[in-house]
Amino acid sequence: MGRVIAILSGKGGVGKTTITAELGIALAKRNQKVCVVDADVAMANLSLLLNMQGSPITLHDVLLGESSVQDAIYDGPMGLKLIPSGLSIENYRRVDPERLSSVIESISNQFDFILLDCPAGIEKSVMAAIAAADEVLLVTMPNSPSIADALKAKITAQRLNVKIIGVIVNFVRHEKGEIKFDDIQKILELPVFGLVPYDQEIRRSFMFEKISPLMVRNPGSPAALSIQKTAAKLAGLSVKIDEGEKRGILARIFGIFKKKSQ
Ligand SMILES: Nc1ncnc2c1ncn2[C@@H]1O[C@H](COP(=O)(O)OP(=O)(O)OP(=O)(O)O)[C@@H](O)[C@H]1O
Ligand SMILES: [Mg+2]
Repeated sequence: MGRVIAILSGKGGVGKTTITAELGIALAKRNQKVCVVDADVAMANLSLLLNMQGSPITLHDVLLGESSVQDAIYDGPMGLKLIPSGLSIENYRRVDPERLSSVIESISNQFDFILLDCPAGIEKSVMAAIAAADEVLLVTMPNSPSIADALKAKITAQRLNVKIIGVIVNFVRHEKGEIKFDDIQKILELPVFGLVPYDQEIRRSFMFEKISPLMVRNPGSPAALSIQKTAAKLAGLSVKIDEGEKRGILARIFGIFKKKSQ
């Protein structure tokens, strides 16, 4: 049985979808069998981030009982598998998110990891995604509104008896005014499991004609390296950086020296 992990935040826009996709690829690169699931049945955009739009069968069809889950699993980058969600507002209104648990259970023996990209908030579809998981990874920004919402999400997960692994702090800039990791740990009473710096390269994922995830396009960028560390920690593996990633790091160090010498 694989580990089913809900990527949850409470607050919207803090990076759940980004982290689900990038962490999924990072785990797949480390030979883990991984499926990422767009559990954001209302505002699906995991397939957009993976540049895998237009899949004919989606989680909507599966939750409506109109398709088999096996037919909704698609091949993504680096061996990653994706179950996309649908874009139809009509179908979204008709789906019963509570069926998600049985759907996920039916595929859990096919994978080492199933990552569920949760919607924001703590409404019915979020509760269904948490209930379908064995574990939760919280995502927050280092600011008060985001941490307050993460706390609500944590309490919701606890009420559903789902284990909380820890919190991933995203958009870290090490700026004055950011809430410090120690304080985040104290407020949430959870370990900081990973941190992801603010990285312009992530924003650029959507700026190309051909969208591509950071882990594919630039695995040596600061955010990609952090996510790889988190992936290794999650899988209990040693942090190994491949040649392409090393080149990325060297190019950056070289860039810094070049700038200084100009
Ligand atoms: N570390 C980062 N550095 C820079 N930009 C980031 C970072 N993480 C995420 N982003 C950007 O922030 C935006 C929101 O990210 P994302 O869609 O992953 O958040 P979300 O929590 O899934 O949002 P929603 O709650 O709407 O589903 C995206 O444009 C993404 O590219
Ligand atoms: Mg999202």
